[in-house]
Amino acid sequence: MSELSTTKIPAIFEVSPIEQNKYLVNGKLVHWEGETSDVYSTIQTEVHGKTGPTRLGSIPYLGEKEALDALDAAYTAYDRGQGEWPTMKVAARIKCMETFVEKMKTKREEIVKLLMWEICKNLPDSEKEFDRTVEYIYDTIEDYKKMDRDSAKFHKHDGIHAHIRRGPLGVVLCLGPYNYPLNETFALLIPAVMMGNTAIFKPAKHGVLLITPLLEAFQESFPPGVVNIVFGRGRVVASPIMKTGKVDVLALIGNSASANALQAQHPKQNRLRLVLGLEAKNPAIILPDADLDLAVAECIAGTLSFNGQRCTALKVIYVHENIAETFNRKYAEAVDALKFGLPWEDGVKLTPLPEPDKPQYIQELIDDAKAKGAEILNEKGGQTTENYIWPAVLFPVNKEMRVYQEEQFGPVVPVLTFKHIDEPLDDMAESNYGQQVSLFGKDTKTLAPLIDTLVNLVCRVNLNSSCQRGPDVYPFTGRKDSAVATLSVHDALRSFSIRTFVASKDNAYNNAILNELLDTKKSNFVSTDYIL
Ligand code: G3H
Repeated sequence: MSELSTTKIPAIFEVSPIEQNKYLVNGKLVHWEGETSDVYSTIQTEVHGKTGPTRLGSIPYLGEKEALDALDAAYTAYDRGQGEWPTMKVAARIKCMETFVEKMKTKREEIVKLLMWEICKNLPDSEKEFDRTVEYIYDTIEDYKKMDRDSAKFHKHDGIHAHIRRGPLGVVLCLGPYNYPLNETFALLIPAVMMGNTAIFKPAKHGVLLITPLLEAFQESFPPGVVNIVFGRGRVVASPIMKTGKVDVLALIGNSASANALQAQHPKQNRLRLVLGLEAKNPAIILPDADLDLAVAECIAGTLSFNGQRCTALKVIYVHENIAETFNRKYAEAVDALKFGLPWEDGVKLTPLPEPDKPQYIQELIDDAKAKGAEILNEKGGQTTENYIWPAVLFPVNKEMRVYQEEQFGPVVPVLTFKHIDEPLDDMAESNYGQQVSLFGKDTKTLAPLIDTLVNLVCRVNLNSSCQRGPDVYPFTGRKDSAVATLSVHDALRSFSIRTFVASKDNAYNNAILNELLDTKKSNFVSTDYIL
């Protein structure tokens, strides 16, 4: 792995530092002249004969005042439900979103390149992250049109007419994770804005410069104050915003410690809606009759895609004791056969870790497991460079080990055996997490009762395949500490809105008013107009 430091960067992937000195508040790109933070990639390059992390540029280190300015802009744009954006016709809001996505598409190359440098995601996955996000925006627009069409009518029950729609909630504070700095952040921000809310968005610590090419697109596509973008530390920027009590929705994908801390700062917690995607420890359960080659291939993708830095990653493998030896051998060989390299290199599966202290953390997990009786099954497991640690397959793992207890979010794989299926089921029931499971096996007599139990322990049972979020039209959620609310193209629109309606008794007086409202098209809410 040491050849990494001397690898030449192909010209098309070279980057020059971006001194990002603007932030977006109230429709203005404010020029920042205060303190800044440097942004580094852990990808090593040579500068003046010295090899080290690559400086990618800098971002504003904003303070409380700028954070509160952004909040004021969002609060004023929402104007307690009376603002232009929350009261706008759905078709007009959709037009703004279409303008935005068209502008965004022109920035693909820049953003994909920054994804590779900032978070070291390989080229195909970086392209997929961008394309999937664009598709998500189009799907959101289509779903919102459908939702609007379905609401373009009156109901009548017990002599009362009702015109029911979904309305916005208010001001949304939106915080995304570093592993999907574009896709997951936008999976929150886009539906939030689409439904008529206004937003303050702070990009993740890693994967922040890639928002730069989109600042103008946001500024030009939406009315002032609808989308406000701030940079800096969560503690400095997000905490004062929460303390004001003016945030109606906390939308966060990240860890529960930050979510709980922010939530606790809101003075009226009952007013705060939470849309959270948090930690998980998704298990793979491999039954004795499983197709082992398929299980190995899916477990490789599940445990080590993007180095295991996915909330949906398989983070613990339970293999039946009768097949453990064969599975372990095949899996360990497959791990060592993975190609490590820089994100743009052909066929690369493992890439540098974007968090400088991650190799050290993974090493601690390995040392702890070894001290408690585990061995590393694969030859390369634990080999370390400045920015990487080769995935170690640890076996046999027990519940006393940190690697069993903690969400590793990185390249290390704990493997346990089981004799009876109750063992993994009991562990899952005891776990703090409940996102997904991968179940490998064939015999339906065994699978049927297992599936019926597993669906009540997690929210997605993946049959003979690794865990994943997509396709984005499917519900993405979790039990216990893994999530609050459900995200999918459709569910996210619901999560960021509330049903609200106009009711009127069925009598000549009211009906005449309703007819006039419809004929004059004066109300954006009371309308049976149909968006095609
Ligand atoms: O980090 C968690 C992501 O939602 C995982 O998404 O399964 O598409 O990688 P993915």
